[in-house]
Amino acid sequence: MRIDLISVAPTLLKSPFEASILKRALDNGIVDIAVHNLRDYANNNYKSVDDYQFGGGAGMVLTIEPIDKCISKLKSEREYDEVIYMTPDGESLNQSIANQLSIKKNIIILCGHYKGVDQRVRDNFITKEISIGDYVLSGGELAASVLCDSIIRLIPGVLGDASSALNDSFQDDLLAPPIYTRPSIYNGWKVPEILLSGNIPKIEKWREEMSFDITKKRRPDLLNNKK
Ligand code: 6GU
Repeated sequence: MRIDLISVAPTLLKSPFEASILKRALDNGIVDIAVHNLRDYANNNYKSVDDYQFGGGAGMVLTIEPIDKCISKLKSEREYDEVIYMTPDGESLNQSIANQLSIKKNIIILCGHYKGVDQRVRDNFITKEISIGDYVLSGGELAASVLCDSIIRLIPGVLGDASSALNDSFQDDLLAPPIYTRPSIYNGWKVPEILLSGNIPKIEKWREEMSFDITKKRRPDLLNNKK
């Protein structure tokens, strides 16, 4: 998969891809991420990419021309499945969206900044708008990093244990059951007996029941999603 990120603050996008699982995916060539500085596409000597909004109002707006130039150049090099805009008024990111995006070949992610982008960018270039929750960040970069992480870890070969992504919380609209490791007793606190029994079918059943109980208690809204 190829991900092209467009941003006015590219340094914000660096560190998440320099560590752990995401770095391994990049090193293995499973994912190719390119970050593009919008200022490199600025049409003036000041490298400015933003301007005041028509009609008045506080806050700067990213102008259309540098974004058009950047997206057009990328599109001349490869075909894109999606051109995503990160914005707090987009569709809320969930596991289903991450799953769908993880099977795409090439995607562009445009990070909003300041007040946002000129509406004509959204109307003419963007195919999908995504938010990571009901709160406001100072830019789309951290949100884009969250989106990339949620997508990349689902690509086959990225996680060590091929089955582990399938068992995640949310993958079946249920939260994950409690997990334990050695020692089996610490400070007098015991691991549930069933997990030490070796009885795989019983353990599976216990985990399903715990998942259901925990979901019912903490996130009853998720149970309404179940078909
Ligand atoms: Cl995608 N961008 C910004 N600026 N704030 C957010 C967001 C995105 N998602 C939640 N809050």
